[in-house]
Amino acid sequence: MELDQTSINVALKGGYWSVHAVEQIDSTQSALKSSSPKHGDVIVAEYQSAGRGRLDRTFEAQPGSALLFSAYIEPRRHRDEWGFIPLLVGLSVAEVLGIEFYTKWPNDILSDGGKVGGILCEVHGDGIVIGIGLNVSMTEQELPVPTASSILLTVGRAPDRNELLTAILKEIAFNLAEWESGEDLIDDYLDSSATMGKRVSVQLPDGRKIEGVAAGISNNGELLLDSGEVISVGDIIHLSLS
Ligand code: BTN
Repeated sequence: MELDQTSINVALKGGYWSVHAVEQIDSTQSALKSSSPKHGDVIVAEYQSAGRGRLDRTFEAQPGSALLFSAYIEPRRHRDEWGFIPLLVGLSVAEVLGIEFYTKWPNDILSDGGKVGGILCEVHGDGIVIGIGLNVSMTEQELPVPTASSILLTVGRAPDRNELLTAILKEIAFNLAEWESGEDLIDDYLDSSATMGKRVSVQLPDGRKIEGVAAGISNNGELLLDSGEVISVGDIIHLSLS
């Protein structure tokens, strides 16, 4: 089913989200940033010719095979705490997808088959542009890398992307309101996490690599290792199965 801007906005009526659907774009993330966005503005695309991932990586998907969108929010908590937003977004996505999907710190959505999606959060002006890419109906042959998976490959059916987008935006709005009212959402996040309790290898931006057991999450979304190390930015590999 193609993206249908009207049905998405009707389903979201009453909230603050305002969705603009396009056939093709370089990157929903770049386009939203250059549009002087307001709180709640969203761009979703059938295809991105220059989709961006974290750490200057690319994010690729065949037309119609993924849910690719960016949303702008102005969180009503102090900027110093915004490090939790990517985790709040991952939690929201995992909750909507169901029990076969988990978060991997900091920004991935996993199933047992591999990475199903990624999240890219970038501070922009007075807010944050949240970019989400989810492999929805990709077959094995369509996966961008062999370590990826899709919702179809995980649960045997691909959800309607219009309904999926609506559900994710509603869940983000719900969790954001909870968090803005003072809830820390850490327990909810830990429930969704495939990382917690695992032995992990952390690749730090300065090139160092450290290992430890993922022991917790700080209120700002940092990963806490059993060794006492606090990781705010990095890529991790899960070394143990449990
Ligand atoms: C990652 O896995 O490193 C994050 C991927 C984020 C991809 C999404 S797709 C929609 C939005 N537009 C982009 O260019 N990137 C994000």
